[in-house]
Amino acid sequence: MEIRGTGSYLPGKIITNDDLSEVVDTNDEWISSRTGICQRHISEGETTSEMAAKAAVAALEDAEVSPEEVELIIVATMTGDEAMPGTACKVQKEIGAVHAACFDLSAACTGFVFALNTANAYLASGMYRNALVIGADMVSKVIDWTDRATCVLFGDGAGAVVLTCTDKKGYRFISHSDGSMGNALMLEHHYDRNLETEQRRLSIEQSASSKVSMDGQAVFRFAVRRVPQVIEEVLCINGLSREEIGCYVLHQANQRIVEAVAKRLKEPLEKFPMNLQNYGNTSSASIPILLNELDQSKRLKTGDRIVMAGFGGGLTWGASIAEWI
Ligand code: UT7
Repeated sequence: MEIRGTGSYLPGKIITNDDLSEVVDTNDEWISSRTGICQRHISEGETTSEMAAKAAVAALEDAEVSPEEVELIIVATMTGDEAMPGTACKVQKEIGAVHAACFDLSAACTGFVFALNTANAYLASGMYRNALVIGADMVSKVIDWTDRATCVLFGDGAGAVVLTCTDKKGYRFISHSDGSMGNALMLEHHYDRNLETEQRRLSIEQSASSKVSMDGQAVFRFAVRRVPQVIEEVLCINGLSREEIGCYVLHQANQRIVEAVAKRLKEPLEKFPMNLQNYGNTSSASIPILLNELDQSKRLKTGDRIVMAGFGGGLTWGASIAEWI
């Protein structure tokens, strides 16, 4: 697998920490010192699939791959436009990738890493040659805007990569889950198939207003323990040392989490680029948005070996390796 192109899309509306302090009891000092976040982009009417399609088009242009050449589209999202059709099918229609098999993947903020690992397995099997992997989330539509503990953390956006098969020996990737900790980070559906019709209608209405709930400290402890572990694991199974890694592209949730991971790995913080100050936590989109920025700013050089690692609801966590071309 080779990452042949990257793209991203952020909606135009920006909400600063000061803006949020007018909505909930918070302030810029608390948000920036506890998270590193200064502002986030919020969609005004654009859907998740529209953001995903814009990121996809940019990635295809960067890769110089036409939509007709794409054989697989995976969209990692927990905020798809609707349950059916899948967001990946809507992206296919929007960009004209008429030959692609398309499906969504739900692994919350780890979604992009899981989707990358899944696409890698398909490419390694020889089933497909070109794949589009997209992380897209519009968390603003499932946030409780009266809950200061969560609403300050997230932003909307989409990022995409184009993957192609190569003859070079590939890397092995890692995906992990622990369903027993699912309650730590939730976005509930209220649908119950046994309910009577009227009750069911009401429950579906309720589900439209389901919101993210989170035990922030539990997720924090999980992340700072599991992310360094999975990075060590992915290096070990690929026979690599930390010195051979140019850069760690981590899920952008909290600056303190990234700093703690760097410290536990005994790696310099300079090897952990961050952009969460500008976008907040964009869930499954955070890693491909950062990849695209690193690509465009030429921070990634040909031959650089990078580790991507994510964590999130499920709970889920995982890591992938790529060599920049
Ligand atoms: O993609 C994965 C998604 N989730 C995460 O990555 C979350 C991981 N967890 C975290 O990043 C951190 O736990 C948070 C940023 C969510 C919270 O930081 P914390 O240092 O763990 O704060 P806390 O929850 O212990 O709250 C400390 C205080 C509390 O007040 P008291 O009880 O000490 O009086 C909170 O009520 O800060 C208060 N607080 C706030 N104050 C101002 C909570 N949210 C806010 C806020 N503004 N927005």
